[in-house]
Amino acid sequence: MGTYRIAVLPGDGIGKEVTKGAVEILQAVATRFEHEFEFVYGLIGGDAIDRKGTPLPDETLDMCRQSDAVLLGAVGGPKWDQNPPHLRPEKGLLAIRKEMNLFANLRPVKFYDSLIDSSPLKEDVIKDVDLLIVRELTGGLYFGKPSGRRMEDGEEIVVDTLLYKREEIKRIITTAFELARKRKKKVTSVDKANVLESSRMWREIAEEVARDFPDVELEHMLVDNAAMQLIRNPKQFDVLVTENMFGDILSDEASMLTGSLGMLPSASLSTSGPSLYEPIHGSAPDIAGQNKANPIATILSSAMMLRLSFGLHLEAVAIEKAVQQVLASGYRTADVAKKGQRIVSTKEMVDEIKATILDDGAILNIMEVYA
Ligand code: IPM
Ligand code: MG
Repeated sequence: MGTYRIAVLPGDGIGKEVTKGAVEILQAVATRFEHEFEFVYGLIGGDAIDRKGTPLPDETLDMCRQSDAVLLGAVGGPKWDQNPPHLRPEKGLLAIRKEMNLFANLRPVKFYDSLIDSSPLKEDVIKDVDLLIVRELTGGLYFGKPSGRRMEDGEEIVVDTLLYKREEIKRIITTAFELARKRKKKVTSVDKANVLESSRMWREIAEEVARDFPDVELEHMLVDNAAMQLIRNPKQFDVLVTENMFGDILSDEASMLTGSLGMLPSASLSTSGPSLYEPIHGSAPDIAGQNKANPIATILSSAMMLRLSFGLHLEAVAIEKAVQQVLASGYRTADVAKKGQRIVSTKEMVDEIKATILDDGAILNIMEVYA
């Protein structure tokens, strides 16, 4: 039995609904496996701007630093779209990533048998896909200075900067190799080395790191080609490692291999201190507050938390298997439903996953699969 303190940052839009669902699932795990999870709540994003005048209040950051792990929903919405850059909800997300040194964002993309019809791609392309995108999260185009607009020679100009320190590239690539070692032992380093100097340095460092991992294969791929290959033949990939913005784009694309953006969890690992877990999707303002959102990405993120932050492997498997079982029984939120299928609400989906975790018979089954 363990006691863990989890900071929950619901954020905006559907972030509130999906984190509520994941907390209920974690509570079911606590009951089932006799752990104690203490949940503390903080503001981030638009909500924090409205109530505290800043997208990441100091008290939120302090609370996260004093927790064992952080669970985050999503930030953003049309209400704040016209705000100046420092008062945008997304700024809170970028700030927490930077402040907590969450440099490695792990985005696993796994095929679900029961969702085969939900993907726009053909069965033989997506069947058995199992890849991991390792996205650099605290550098690159998202954080480079200078950034902004100014007048030059009577003309308005704008600049964003792609900046990395050698060590920052080295540590994310090393992380990717370490993860690949525990998987299918292949790293695809994605860059734009035919154009960008930052990518040429990235490639050079990847070669250096690879020398320490003779058992892991390294290949380089240009990002435009990688975007195409993800759709053409995703099964060729094991671990992809890439710059912050490339990773953002490729992971949304890769979510379509599973059928929906609402399925993809992520873990953001820190150099030191607690890690953060969040779905890869956004706040979906168009369906916010309507009990329609798919909670699975956040629920699977909480499973990643149990495994990676707390070392609770069996508990993580229990969540993952419960999700699989519920999908296999035909439960579908709107994003993954096909024509004619009954659509369930966020709450119904959460309740069903919860019931599966708490069900004696089901859990025995899960353990058998695990054993
Ligand atoms: C993500 C999101 C964020 C990002 C946005 C909301 C700032 O798209 O986590 O992928 O671009 O990193
Ligand atoms: Mg994104």
